[in-house]
Amino acid sequence: MKKKIGFAAAMVLVGLALLSTRYYMVDLPVWHFFGGGNGPDPVTLHLRGEFVESNLGAAEGPAGSFTVRMIAQQFVFVPQCIVVPAGVPVTFRITSADAVHQLSFLGTDYGLKAVPGEVTEATFTFAKPGQFKIPCHEFCGAGHYAMRAHLDVVPRDQFASMLPGERRTCEPR
Ligand code: CUA
Repeated sequence: MKKKIGFAAAMVLVGLALLSTRYYMVDLPVWHFFGGGNGPDPVTLHLRGEFVESNLGAAEGPAGSFTVRMIAQQFVFVPQCIVVPAGVPVTFRITSADAVHQLSFLGTDYGLKAVPGEVTEATFTFAKPGQFKIPCHEFCGAGHYAMRAHLDVVPRDQFASMLPGERRTCEPR
């Protein structure tokens, strides 16, 4: 009898440990069950709202503001490459389609968490043109170590002359 109780207690502990490290694998269905939050629905992200495909990447807003919209999902960032102008503040808005991911701009102190059902926003200025790798820095599953995007910081006048499609690719120009 004592052995059985010990076994059950051990199972509960293992379950709790799994839940605390892999909570994102169960929190999505639970989150859905309770009707979601105010943020974008991870399941319909690509279909409607702020994060539809055509709205991703860098865009110039009113009064010369720049906004980048991205989706993180197992195990890619969409878009894979983003192009931003140098020397001006760029606001990143990012969400996740599944697990929690973390963008980190290698060679800078900049980082940004992507959380399902929420939009994370932060504004960064990249002083000079250059290329940055954006690896995922939050363990998000089997493909985590291969999950990365690229940032291409270009001179401001060059950015202004680029078409929207060109701002979402790192093809050589
Ligand atoms: Cu996404 Cu690790």
